[in-house]
Amino acid sequence: MTVYDFSNKVVLISGAGRGLGRRAAERFGKSGAKLVLNDYGEEALNEAIKTLESEGYSVCGIAGDIADEQTSIRLVELAEEKFGALHIAINNAGIAQNMARLHETDSDEARRVIDVDLMGVFYAMKYQIPLMLKSAEASGLPSAILNLASAAGVMGSPNLAAYSAAKHGVVALTRSAALEYATKSLRVNALCPSFTRTKMVTDILETSRHGREVAEAKLLAFNPMGRLGEVDEIVQAMLWACSDDNSYYTGQTLSIDGGLRTS
Ligand SMILES: NC(=O)c1ccc[n+]([C@@H]2O[C@H](COP(=O)([O-])OP(=O)(O)OC[C@H]3O[C@@H](n4cnc5c(N)ncnc54)[C@H](O)[C@@H]3O)[C@@H](O)[C@H]2O)c1
Repeated sequence: MTVYDFSNKVVLISGAGRGLGRRAAERFGKSGAKLVLNDYGEEALNEAIKTLESEGYSVCGIAGDIADEQTSIRLVELAEEKFGALHIAINNAGIAQNMARLHETDSDEARRVIDVDLMGVFYAMKYQIPLMLKSAEASGLPSAILNLASAAGVMGSPNLAAYSAAKHGVVALTRSAALEYATKSLRVNALCPSFTRTKMVTDILETSRHGREVAEAKLLAFNPMGRLGEVDEIVQAMLWACSDDNSYYTGQTLSIDGGLRTS
């Protein structure tokens, strides 16, 4: 496992109660970062904070819905209040949708997916960027934002149209912001995993109209490696993308997908 040094960085991670966000918090913490965490689920967030604190990491957090603009405002205020800066943001909180063809997808569900997965990232960046620019100017340390898009953000995704639309939007926000701040020591990239073994994916498979086993077999048949991604295979890319060693890397969609997208 590559060892990174984030000991001079304040890292904000949303959706850190479980799955990719939780593991990212552990890995960034282990690499020395000061952590500002968020999750919708208060219990999961508190448990994550308690565990990380007991392991000696500097960590604070706020429970709240990332689709609510106030949550991002409060998280950035917390970062400034506790640690006086913000250098890295992993905008990871997200939800999937029940698998269904577009004409069978519930409109309220589609709206919620877009509110969380797309507007959540918009609000996050809107309030993170001013503090990141200020922190970079004060310390000379560069900043990085990594937005969790998806393979569904760069490819059509049957039975996941609303989710795919939201994630395509995340890619557009990422590319546009990368251009706006390219000369300001702020890099902005999007991570595009394919199906990875987390609760989100097991829930998607459970709701498939084909039933779990058939849905999983269909899904794996399309993946060149014929398997799901593992959490650590995705999280290592988060550290790589946000490392200052990657100083010329911005505006990109980083596919970690077993070869699913080859162009
Ligand atoms: N697992 C995959 O296969 C996969 C593939 C591509 C992209 N992604 C993306 O990666 C991110 C993390 O996915 P995961 O697999 O770890 O999911 P997960 O469901 O295991 O964990 C997501 C976490 O985000 C939190 N969350 C959900 N909605 C929130 C909200 N509105 N406000 C605050 N927190 C909220 C949940 O409580 C949960 O703790 C998501 O953005 C997802 O779309 C996942």
